[in-house]
Amino acid sequence: MCGIVGAIADRDVVPVLIEGLKRLEYRGYDSAGIAVVNDRDVRRVRRTGRVAEMADAAAAEGFHASLGIGHTRWATHGGVTEANAHPHISHGIALVHNGIIENHEEQREKLGALGYAFESQTDTEVIAHLIHHHLKQGNGDLLGALQRVVKELTGAYALAVISRAEPGRMVCARMGCPLLIGLGEGENFVASDVSAVVQATRNVVFLEEGDTAEVARDGVRVYDRNDQPVERETHVSSVSLSSLELGPYRHFMQKEIHEQPRAIGDTIEATIDGGFVPELFGRNAAAVLEGIEGVQILACGTSYYAGLTARYWIEGMAGMPCSVEIASEYRYRQAYADPKHLVVTISQSGETLDTMEALKHAKSLGRAHTLSICNVPESAIPRASELVCYTRAGAEIGVASTKAFTTQLAALFQLAVVLAKLRGRLGADDEAQCLEQLRQLPGGVQQALNLEPQVVAWAEKFAAKQNALFLGRGLHYPIALEGALKLKEISYIHAEAYPAGELKHGPLALVDSAMPVVVIAPNNSLLEKVKSNMQEVRARGGELFVFADQDSNFGESEGVHVIRTPRHVGLLSPVVHTIPVQLLAYHTALARGTDVDKPRNLAKSVTVE
Ligand code: F6R
Repeated sequence: MCGIVGAIADRDVVPVLIEGLKRLEYRGYDSAGIAVVNDRDVRRVRRTGRVAEMADAAAAEGFHASLGIGHTRWATHGGVTEANAHPHISHGIALVHNGIIENHEEQREKLGALGYAFESQTDTEVIAHLIHHHLKQGNGDLLGALQRVVKELTGAYALAVISRAEPGRMVCARMGCPLLIGLGEGENFVASDVSAVVQATRNVVFLEEGDTAEVARDGVRVYDRNDQPVERETHVSSVSLSSLELGPYRHFMQKEIHEQPRAIGDTIEATIDGGFVPELFGRNAAAVLEGIEGVQILACGTSYYAGLTARYWIEGMAGMPCSVEIASEYRYRQAYADPKHLVVTISQSGETLDTMEALKHAKSLGRAHTLSICNVPESAIPRASELVCYTRAGAEIGVASTKAFTTQLAALFQLAVVLAKLRGRLGADDEAQCLEQLRQLPGGVQQALNLEPQVVAWAEKFAAKQNALFLGRGLHYPIALEGALKLKEISYIHAEAYPAGELKHGPLALVDSAMPVVVIAPNNSLLEKVKSNMQEVRARGGELFVFADQDSNFGESEGVHVIRTPRHVGLLSPVVHTIPVQLLAYHTALARGTDVDKPRNLAKSVTVE
């Protein structure tokens, strides 16, 4: 969602801000802006639409400065207008904000009574006026005023502030939204995401909840929630620049789909080398995993579907109860909380607000043990978890999650095997077979990618449709859900997924000759059941598009199209069957001419409720 970048240097920082904002574009936004301090004045440019348009306007107006902040906004309070875009300014103080200020109406009223006029409908503008109000009262300098103001705010924020009166520094604050400081040589940066500053520095300090900081050219000082100076560790970011660039691909989503054999290979590397050991999930994992008696998975969207798949593995292999719940539901429920159940959060970004809040809620209900499966090192959710397993997909830029999902599945499969081993439910032969299946997985995924030309032919038919149904059973039902989600979010075709056995309990009413029905039908114990469900569709004139593996023994016939997926890879079959549904969504969206990497109304990191 919204993104922040700020810089102070001897050089012109405007190109740094623009580059940083371009690297934040993937998070999803609908307007962008920068503000700079120059000759004791604050200048600002904002535009709705793309960063490139805002950058052209800044160039046309001759923006150059050695101190500035920038922002990409994803509208929450107030529509997509230039007046609502950040930075917001009050009397020479400019600021950018990620998050939501919940008591903004109360603050707005108070400031109105003090004579402040509002130019926007945002919750953010109150913060700029509040800072000015405190400065006017003589309540300290810019940092002191910010420290006072944040204590008057409820909600979530990452803030970066500059002032024409203090051209030698930026000040910033965080609560509930990520913010980091990038440390350069004689220049420093702030950003909501490391990708925004990685072109300038890899040395980063992650602010903690409640921290404020002052960032000057020659140094950085961080203060804790009690305004006491505090040291925060410097990390060296491992984000690679190539993962942030498109290379020969047309879209990041296409690139990321094709990166999956590598991404999965990296994620399983430690297991292939060292076997299924608890330490894959952190140094103290053995003690924790040995003592648990069940698993509760919390996640949103695609990550939730990874959790649904994992339930089959965990209950089937480890023989322990596993429940999976959408984080935004769990967080508001007085759920039964068994302290012996491990809470597993799954999140690509590691900063999804609902998942973070669900984790906090689980802890408040007495859940002692937590594990985060996450793709972004040092992000908020793993930092709040006892155990961590990082998937090694690399930066995922396309809004629609692809390689993050399949690497989450790889990590969750490893968790299930480790739990099964610890509970004495896996013999040496079974373990060797799991390892072999895992070893073959990147190859199986590559073979599935080779189906692309056949999927393109299907996508041309799908592009003309209004609706689609996806069916799967057992382990492949979550993959049907994932296929439907991918299709709807990037092609805007209405798509729903059902367990195939559920068809006759309602959705069959939707089936006619205009309804394409995608079926995931590998050769497993449910295949004959799936075939019966397919008959139900054909009998109503529905057109079937079946992904069936080499052993499924399916033939094409009228109204039944079949693409043969690679030879069955056992319990990991859902991973392989994910690839063709991703490709179907991608090529259908391409044929419909939608903005594949930045679908309308969606954001990559969902940092608001
Ligand atoms: C769909 C998609 C979303 C995310 C969801 C959770 O393609 O990307 O449904 O999966 O917003 O995000 P993370 O995994 O970052 O917590």
